[in-house]
Formats: sequence, structure tokens, C-alpha cells
Amino acid sequence: MIERENKITAAEAGGQDDQLDLTLRPKTLGEYVGQEDAKMNLRVAIGAAKTRSEPVEHILLYGPPGLGKTTLANIVAREMGVNIKVTSGPAIEKQGDLASILTNLQENDILFIDEIHRLKTQIEEILYSAMEDYALDLIIGKGPAARSMRLTLPKFTLIGATTKVGTLSAPLRDRFGHIYKLDFYREEEIRQIVRRSAKLLGVGMDEPAMAEVGKSARRTPRIANRLLKRLRDFATVEHCGKIDAPFAKKCLKLLGVDMLGLDKTDRQILVTIIEKFNGGPVGLSAIAAATAEETETIEDWYEPYLLQIGFLDRTRQGRVVTENAYLHLEIDYPEKQNQKLRNLFN
Ligand SMILES: Nc1ncnc2c1ncn2[C@@H]1O[C@H](COP(=O)(O)OP(=O)(O)O)[C@@H](O)[C@H]1O
Ligand SMILES: [Mg+2]
Repeated sequence: MIERENKITAAEAGGQDDQLDLTLRPKTLGEYVGQEDAKMNLRVAIGAAKTRSEPVEHILLYGPPGLGKTTLANIVAREMGVNIKVTSGPAIEKQGDLASILTNLQENDILFIDEIHRLKTQIEEILYSAMEDYALDLIIGKGPAARSMRLTLPKFTLIGATTKVGTLSAPLRDRFGHIYKLDFYREEEIRQIVRRSAKLLGVGMDEPAMAEVGKSARRTPRIANRLLKRLRDFATVEHCGKIDAPFAKKCLKLLGVDMLGLDKTDRQILVTIIEKFNGGPVGLSAIAAATAEETETIEDWYEPYLLQIGFLDRTRQGRVVTENAYLHLEIDYPEKQNQKLRNLFN
């Protein structure tokens, strides 16, 4: 049970902000670590928009959960000095919901739609003219008496965030002036985030301990912060003064996180593919069924990192566990697997 509570789950990783996240969330582009490409382009866009007293062009941010999409949207609002209205794809149920949000915006405001890939089609269609012409086309009445009416909207910036850019419709995607992919962070960037967060939380920690947390954080800021908070709890309970590397390692082990940041579920996914499906190829839904995880969770959360560190390969026939993963799990790699892979890729 304790293990379950301690697990850094996907739900947590995509979950609501708690107080800690608010404290640790960078407020300016200068504080926002990494993602240099997006930052540089946004800095220019914000500067230009402010000079012209115009809103920034619509921005689409995509990438796995916990990499800083929501944070970046809030930073853009702050740097522009405008309000941000936050909503999400599934929260907008009716056309009227979106209409009321849009008509309540003020000039240059930001509308942030999280999980924008989950917008219903008929709602998405309202967004097209809103984004392009700052207009809202409404149909009043029904049947032959129906007429359409066009409302002018204040000029605004839509910031959309998604973990699944591939499922976004082309007409929607094409209406964004800026599209940025947030990547997994480099190890030294994660360490920088750990250092910053430790300072903000007043956690005494030496550099090697920070490096341990950094290594286990799946190159994801949200996980780095989460681990740090757990470590702080352990340190409090055990009256440990400054956290050093051995203490950090011990805690991470108790949390079920290994030195590559894999948790129990990551390992379970890999081991299941190896044991039940001979290392793959196997489809996502079969993996989900065999591990009792949801397909979406595996696809959005577990898989991107396993692909990133080269423990999984995606082939047309399904997912395949790589030799590196066998090594890490200390499972013998069957020679015939190589032949199978060669056949798959040829
Ligand atoms: N570039 C960054 N630098 C420092 N901290 C970050 C950065 N990106 C994200 N974080 C931290 O990670 C947490 C999760 O980021 P968030 O923006 O909610 O991710 P996403 O919206 O992509 O799921 C934030 O609360 C923030 O504290
Ligand atoms: Mg978010």
C-alpha cells in the first residue's frame, strides 16, 4: 500500500497543480529552464507584439505531460501583461460554453485550452473564425427562419496545449502562428531545476544528491519537483540535515524509482512485453490489457520516455523491447531477437 502511495503515477504527473507546483512554477522566461528554441522565438514574438500593442499570434505547445506547457502559457500572459483564461478541451461541452468564454475576453487576453486535441468537432469549427477573423458566427433560430449572425470578438491569443499533436485536425493546426514541441530536458537542465526548486523549498542538499534526483526524474520537471518533495519529507522524518547522495539513493529506492527514472509500471510494461509477448512486436491495446493500465496512459505517459531512452521501438507491427532494456532489467537477451528485429525493419 505504501508503495502505491509513493508511486509517481501518471495521474499525478498530469494532475492538478498543488500548492507546491505554484511555488515552484517559473514566472518569467528568464526563470524557465531549457526549451531554448521555444523561449527564443517567444521572446521575439512577445517583444514585437508589445511594441505594436497587438496580441501574440496563436501558439500551439505540444509534448509529453509535465514538461512545462501550462507554465509557458502562464509566462506568456505575464510577460505580455494580459489576463489568461484557462480551460480545457473536455471542459468545453457546448458551442455556447466557448461562445461565452470568447465574448468575455478582453483585448489582447490569452485563452489557454489544455488538451486541445479533445475538443469536439463542432466546437473546434467555431474556433476557426474566432482565431482567424476574431469573429464568432452564430446561427440563430431553426429551419427556414434560421439566420446567421457574426459577432466581433476582441483580439486575443489562443494558446493550445496537447500531448497528442498527431490527432489535431489540420485546419486547427494550420491556424497557429507558432508551433513548439517541448522536448524532454537534458540532464544538466533537470539538475538546474532541482537546484532552483531545492532553494525555493529550503531543502539542504549537496550537488551529488541533486544529480541523483536529476537522473531519476525522467527528464521531466514535474517529476523532479515531485521527487524533491518526497525527499524533503524523508529528510524531515529522519532528521537528516543536509541530503547527500547515499540518502537520496535510499529514498529513491523506497519510492520505487530506479536510476533511470523508471518506476514499477515502466518495468512492468517492459517485463510484460518480454515475458508474455516474447519481446514484441505487440500492439498497444494488448500491452494495456496485460498490464491493467489504460491505453491512453501508456501512450501519453509511459511510452514517450521509454522510446526516448531507447528501451522501446515502435514498428508498424507494434512495440518491441530493445536489447538495452533487457540489459537494464538484467534479463538475458535472446539471440533470435536480433534476427526478428532485422526482419521487422526490412
Ligand atoms: N522549464 C521549466 N523550468 C523550471 N520548472 C519547470 C519548467 N517547466 C515545468 N516546470 C515545473 O514543472 C511543473 C509542471 O509543468 P507544467 O507546465 O504543468 O507541465 P505540462 O503543462 O506540460 O504538463 C511546473 O509546475 C513547474 O514547477
Ligand atoms: Mg499542463
